Amino acid sequence: MTVAIVVGAQWGDEGKGKVADFYAEQADIVVRFCGGANAGHTIVSGGRRFAFNHVPSGALYPEKINIIGNGVVLEPKRFFEELSYLTSAGYKPNIVISPRAHVVMPYHIALDGAEEEKKGALAAGTTGRGIGPCYSDKAARFGIRIDELIQPALFKEKLHTMHELKVKMLREIYGVEFNQTEEEIYNQYSEYAKMLTPMIADSGGMILDSIRADKKVLLEGAQATMLDIDHGVYPFGTSSNTSAGSACTGSGIGPTEIDEVIGVVKVYTSRVGTGPLPTELHDETGQFIRDKGWEYGTATGRPRRIGWLDLPTIKYAAQVNGLTGLAFTRLDTLSGVAKVKICTHYELSGRMLSLPPSSYTEIERCKPVYQTFDGWEDIGAEKWRACTKGGFESLPNEAQTYLQFVSDEVNVPIYMIGVGRDREDMIVLRDAFSKKSDR
Ligand code: GDP
Ligand code: IMO
Ligand code: MG
Repeated sequence: MTVAIVVGAQWGDEGKGKVADFYAEQADIVVRFCGGANAGHTIVSGGRRFAFNHVPSGALYPEKINIIGNGVVLEPKRFFEELSYLTSAGYKPNIVISPRAHVVMPYHIALDGAEEEKKGALAAGTTGRGIGPCYSDKAARFGIRIDELIQPALFKEKLHTMHELKVKMLREIYGVEFNQTEEEIYNQYSEYAKMLTPMIADSGGMILDSIRADKKVLLEGAQATMLDIDHGVYPFGTSSNTSAGSACTGSGIGPTEIDEVIGVVKVYTSRVGTGPLPTELHDETGQFIRDKGWEYGTATGRPRRIGWLDLPTIKYAAQVNGLTGLAFTRLDTLSGVAKVKICTHYELSGRMLSLPPSSYTEIERCKPVYQTFDGWEDIGAEKWRACTKGGFESLPNEAQTYLQFVSDEVNVPIYMIGVGRDREDMIVLRDAFSKKSDR
């Protein structure tokens, strides 16, 4: 039995989907434990690209159970669009949804835009998927859970209260007219309730039973450490806990069940949305990486901000998540850059920091201190693929030095290295599904 968590160690879009899909082959159950349709997880299988907002990354394997855990906020419309896309592509994923997950309602989406506008310079540049307002309602105990959605009388009553409240809020506070009537929403969401019902089950209990039956469980994070509501760059992150602790609270199992925590690290930095990004590149190197890696948001299509690898962030991610392994991605994308830099520290008012400060106003004032490394050659797709057979030692020497430096500094071993987009393009150094006692 092994329970492994995959989390993003940076600002999101590190390649969690690809890493989770890779591990999903061995896992029996794959669980999404936080976030909602704000996530965009890409999997490239046999040259075909899939981008998932809700569906866990085990969805391409018919025999796996894919759980949407209680920590998720589910937007039914997008969820069913995803399912029908998968069905039309010949996949029939086995999905289980926690009755404790919350439902994103149309007024959450309207409020997301209105609140962003109101926040002005403090707007996070959200994905506009209603995430913040839905988690706000959850915390205020105003939310509508899946187990309430499927009880018609209860749903009607709650919707009545919430609709009145939100229409008033939108109109009187934000000056926005929300035109969907209570009845329209009730009818639409009652249809969703019927369609969701066969998928609803006690997912936490199911995961625990599987662990007891010696099965392998993969807990797939969304967003990333620096977007975590507590540990990220507040208020520029998302509205859920995205780090490893949330894998337990968002799926319904205890921390003593966890064996491995794998942090996905893109070998440079990328960020969609606003907020300080100390190593951001505004020059042609940043543009080169963006173009070469087609760094545009999977969920929203926005151009991603690009920067050098930021070690204080990765060290912080190791600390916050208790990382046991690193999964690097995009070694191939960063190839062909003559000199590459790693930010080893921040300088703040004459002090050297090896971890990010808590306040965004301080992060804004942090100056990155860099160590420069020789870049590595772009050896081309075929040779990168060959490295998956040849292993770490077959990589260009400069790339080996770069990766080893990061792993040594963070004091976490390398588990895998991505050298291309496809699910095959991974060099595996260590198996995440080895037993705890073997570590
Ligand atoms: P996620 O949100 O963490 O799952 O990441 P996204 O899917 O939003 O963005 C990661 C992007 O990097 C996707 O386009 C992936 O196909 C791509 N990707 C992941 N790993 C690698 C890699 O090792 N090499 C290359 N070239 N692309 C990769
Ligand atoms: P994956 O799982 C990158 C960012 C948004 C915004 C902030 C808040 O694909 O890594 P939200 O819509 O959650 O209220 O937006 O968080 N953000 C992401 N950035 N990848 C994601 O998910 C993200 N999910 C949210 O851009 O700055
Ligand atoms: Mg993404």
